[in-house]
Amino acid sequence: MNFDFSETQLMIRETARKFAEEEIAPSASERDEKEEFPTEAVKKLGELGFMGMMVPEQYGGSSLDTVSYVLAIEEVSKVDASCGVIMSVNNSLVCFGLNQWGSEEQKQKYLAPLAVGKKLGAFALSEPEAGSDASNQRTRATRDGDYYVLNGTKNFITNGANADVVLVMATTDKSKGANGVSTFIVEKETPGFSVAKKEKKLGIRSSDTVSLAFQDCRVPVANRIGEEGFGFKFAMKTLDGGRIGIAAQASGIAKASLEASIRYAKQRKAFGKYIAEFQAIQFKLADMATNIDAARMLIFKAAALKDAGQPYALVAAMAKLYASKVAVGSALEAIQIHGGYGYIKDYSVERYLRDAKITEIYEGTSEVQRIVISRALLRD
Ligand code: CAA
Repeated sequence: MNFDFSETQLMIRETARKFAEEEIAPSASERDEKEEFPTEAVKKLGELGFMGMMVPEQYGGSSLDTVSYVLAIEEVSKVDASCGVIMSVNNSLVCFGLNQWGSEEQKQKYLAPLAVGKKLGAFALSEPEAGSDASNQRTRATRDGDYYVLNGTKNFITNGANADVVLVMATTDKSKGANGVSTFIVEKETPGFSVAKKEKKLGIRSSDTVSLAFQDCRVPVANRIGEEGFGFKFAMKTLDGGRIGIAAQASGIAKASLEASIRYAKQRKAFGKYIAEFQAIQFKLADMATNIDAARMLIFKAAALKDAGQPYALVAAMAKLYASKVAVGSALEAIQIHGGYGYIKDYSVERYLRDAKITEIYEGTSEVQRIVISRALLRD
């Protein structure tokens, strides 16, 4: 067992760290406050090759491994978890899915611009009545010659307002349940497709989360990914990898919470001493660091399994379950260590808590991760 990162992985981490600290961090709190999408940062992340990290070079991607991807997401999320999720959705849900199951024509047309950040992607699975119960799709896709006609509503769609391309799950045969769902590539300009409500959120406020409406939206048959009925499995398999990205986002937030706490503990005095000299604070830091390292072990195990071509769904679910809990716990402890200053916006730790909470919800709630894990344990 080798715990060392390769030269390339370390170089990716350094590039991501430098970019995150110099170009994303300075405006992160202001964008959070104004709910402003980081257009410029996303463009530059594309230029750096961070929007299609695991896409083969032949489609414009960076041909990197999942471990490098985790390192980059962590660094970006450490300064701005909104940028982290924008990057994660484009990389793991959109580019990964297209690269694995898209046709050659779909890859040339859609994957190539998405991988270099010229276009942005979104993944539309959730609906008003299909959140955790994801196979309960109400959006319908009805075949009409060389087209499918989409009708329905998607909600809580990350990147939805800014996306040029959306992967939409819709029912093509209701009688088949989960096996009657298909996936379609829908372009922003397609008539009948519109962005509806923009959500006002607790955290990750500079990423956009919207509802999408489909009204007699005609999508060419050539834009269906895989066979008819493959859509739910496409979504589940794609989310298995997505969960590694969200776990890395959570670990980035947790690391930011720990680093902020160490900095503060070394500069804040109480009762004539730096608070870092009190065991009450030291033990909090020790617990945070231990939990973060344990979370990262799971995340890198999941990433390494994926890179080795081995089954990773179970460990990815464990990684997300644990890392998201550690992110929330670390952010809460960071606020406690900062005392009153942690509760106001002068320090970023209150943002870390608001951002951390969503990692226990999207790409499968913690309860859904427990379903995935326990089913794997109990399978014959
Ligand atoms: N890989 C391959 N196939 C899978 C699979 C996987 N990981 N998970 C399920 N399947 C297959 C099953 O084998 C089954 O196939 P057969 O019928 O051929 O046997 C079929 O899919 C149906 O599976 P289930 O019976 O297990 O389905 P279920 O209705 O019981 O649901 C669930 C299981 C795990 C709860 C699932 O619905 C789920 O993961 N829900 C959460 C959805 C989610 O994560 N949403 C995130 C939205 S995207 C997002 O959040 C992005 C963002 O904003 C950042």
